[in-house]
Amino acid sequence: MRDPLGKKVIGIKPSGIRKFFDIVQETEGAISLGVGEPDFDTPWHIRDEGIYSLEKGRTFYTSNSGLKELRQEVSNYINRTQGVTYDPLKEIFITVGGSEAIDLAFRAMVDEGDEVLIPQPSYVSYEPCAILADAVPVIIELKEENDFRLTAEEVLEKVTDKTKILVLPFPNNPTGAVMEKKDLEEIAKVVIEKDLYVISDEIYSELTYNGKHVSIVSLPGMRERTILINGFSKAYAMTGWRLGYACGPANIMAQMVKIHQFAIMCAPTTSQYAAVEALRNGDEDVSKMREEYNHRRRYLLNEFKKFGLPCFEPFGAFYVFPCIKKFGMSSDEFCTRLLEEEKLAVVPGSAFGDCGEGYIRISYAYSLQNLKIAMERFEKFISKLEH
Ligand SMILES: Cc1ncc(COP(=O)(O)O)c(C=O)c1O
Repeated sequence: MRDPLGKKVIGIKPSGIRKFFDIVQETEGAISLGVGEPDFDTPWHIRDEGIYSLEKGRTFYTSNSGLKELRQEVSNYINRTQGVTYDPLKEIFITVGGSEAIDLAFRAMVDEGDEVLIPQPSYVSYEPCAILADAVPVIIELKEENDFRLTAEEVLEKVTDKTKILVLPFPNNPTGAVMEKKDLEEIAKVVIEKDLYVISDEIYSELTYNGKHVSIVSLPGMRERTILINGFSKAYAMTGWRLGYACGPANIMAQMVKIHQFAIMCAPTTSQYAAVEALRNGDEDVSKMREEYNHRRRYLLNEFKKFGLPCFEPFGAFYVFPCIKKFGMSSDEFCTRLLEEEKLAVVPGSAFGDCGEGYIRISYAYSLQNLKIAMERFEKFISKLEH
């Protein structure tokens, strides 16, 4: 029998995050700070809209691009947060999470051999999705000395004649780094000069702790060069509803919708009705969750300071990314031992790219009570290593 599998797929490594979850499930008494998923329930009024839509028998496909009223709400949201207007009919469509939008953006925009600049450490799907689209991923290493921000020089260093896309992964998973307006302005200059496009993954845009998120689409000349990706998973605690969206120039959106139409048909209908409510009346819930995350963020930073563990102060998302280089072991070994010896699961920085080696990602999408137990275990583990 011949090999049923394609070489391209075989060559892609499975996500380094999952491996630890599987072990956690098999280890009794283990606690995890590994998952990048809000611990809050979806706010009740949002769930209620989903239920109501079912009661009303709204159980059919929506249009491929998604409910018109939802696209209108997305348009209103971007307008009120970024001051940028998108046509809800031609420039916005609804996807199955930000994940699908990332995949479609690559597939719609690259030809074989086009280079895609991917800053790392960053979310695990960019590189595989770029490869599956036959692009060549070119990694830019984000550095702690730059607060894990992307600099224009770093982009320029990696641009070639073949570079087509820059992925902009901020607020960042796993570092929690954010880009400020002045940082984005420098990047925008390079993007325009080198005639690049940007895939801006803004899934954590609502979770910033030091001022409001600024999107690159709000800068002159960038709206026409950017695919803005966002969704409902993180801001509204709606991971399981599987809903996101993409905004961008109509010609690119049309091709992304074409693939979406053949592969997916439409995003889940119930979730779309619930999301209309989230965008119309969810600001207060987001603000409460943000406050709670911020509280936990400060708690963890304070703990690491107490432990004498160097930790960059993250101003976005719900992760901290302390440096564990001083223990002289790989981040994978550190995490494996922490799980085996203290039954605490965190994620090795190397799961987010080679340059994440020497760091670990700790999610604070867990209750303070859980975080406190986790920090006791963590302290016990590192004091053993130190003695
Ligand atoms: C940076 C980033 N982008 C995108 C996603 C995908 O989110 P979803 O598909 O649930 O919208 C995640 C999920 O963890 C993420 O961390």
